Amino acid sequence: MNYRELVILRGGYIRNQTIPVIPVSDGAGEVVSVGENVTAFKIGDRVAGTFFRDWVTGIPTEKMMDTALGGGIDGMLANYVARREHAWVKIPEHLTYEEAATLPCAAVTAWNSLVTGGLIAGQTILTLGTGGVSIFALQFAKLFGARVIITSSSDEKLERARALGADETINYHTNSEWQQKVRFLTNGLGVDQVVEVGGEGTLSRSLSSARIGGYIGTIGVLTGFGSGGLTPASVFFNHLRFQGIYVGSREMFEAMIKAIALHRLKPVIDQTIPFAEVKRAYELLEQRKHFGKIVISHS
Ligand SMILES: NC(=O)c1ccc[n+]([C@@H]2O[C@H](COP(=O)([O-])OP(=O)(O)OC[C@H]3O[C@@H](n4cnc5c(N)ncnc54)[C@H](OP(=O)(O)O)[C@@H]3O)[C@@H](O)[C@H]2O)c1
Repeated sequence: MNYRELVILRGGYIRNQTIPVIPVSDGAGEVVSVGENVTAFKIGDRVAGTFFRDWVTGIPTEKMMDTALGGGIDGMLANYVARREHAWVKIPEHLTYEEAATLPCAAVTAWNSLVTGGLIAGQTILTLGTGGVSIFALQFAKLFGARVIITSSSDEKLERARALGADETINYHTNSEWQQKVRFLTNGLGVDQVVEVGGEGTLSRSLSSARIGGYIGTIGVLTGFGSGGLTPASVFFNHLRFQGIYVGSREMFEAMIKAIALHRLKPVIDQTIPFAEVKRAYELLEQRKHFGKIVISHS
């Protein structure tokens, strides 16, 4: 499950207006049948679907972006799914199907944002909240040798983030001007990268949290789709780099899987809900009590 599932249920993102549609972009499972000309997979292989069926590599076209699962085309909330071979990747051996099912959207998005921002060891990133994208951003940033500042509305979740390697934590409820704390924690300079999942309500504070020449991976709308006080001057006077991130290609997914397999990184699953109780998974997502991911299981 991703926050996106709620947005689609409420009326959709652009290019995700197909109605009716089988929902849910992410899924993993076992290959039970292959077509005659398939060479990349055989029966019994363990696979996950790519978020965009047809974005394999490079810069996506409009047509490729029309193939987002569970939005533009049918998704993964199904017992059986048939796709061309370019729309699958093999999953790491150390992951269960439930763990691998968390990867196609949130993990690829976090990976894409950090890599596109050119993250290197010793840099500092800021990530907002403890949902799916942000927890993957925390895990990958630690893997890259970066310092991580993370915010949350809950001290208990911040404790869990520390246990995962977060270097600095800020409660954004008790510390509403959290960008000042970020500045303080970076000797007044600001962070190298922001994983901007908040949107309207967090954007201007994220801007104030970035260093001059810093990078903002523009990803989410947890607090709304508005501009959040963003002005051209606030960007150019600080030489900021804004990069829209829309999940990623199969090539990025495969690069990420290599890293996950090498480091035996485990996605963080908060709860696993049986397929028959899928409505409960939506309710849980809406309550925002989760840390990391909520997964729907067939077993
Ligand atoms: N562009 C893309 O390709 C892409 C891909 C994936 C996701 N997204 C977007 O990224 C966002 C996150 O997605 P997700 O699936 O990771 O969401 P999620 O798992 O549902 O995240 C929920 C968490 O967000 C945090 N949050 C809510 N309001 C916040 C605020 N004002 N400041 C800081 N944190 C806040 C809360 O963390 P605490 O409980 O710790 O406070 C909440 O538990 C969504 O807007 C989604 O649409 C975009």
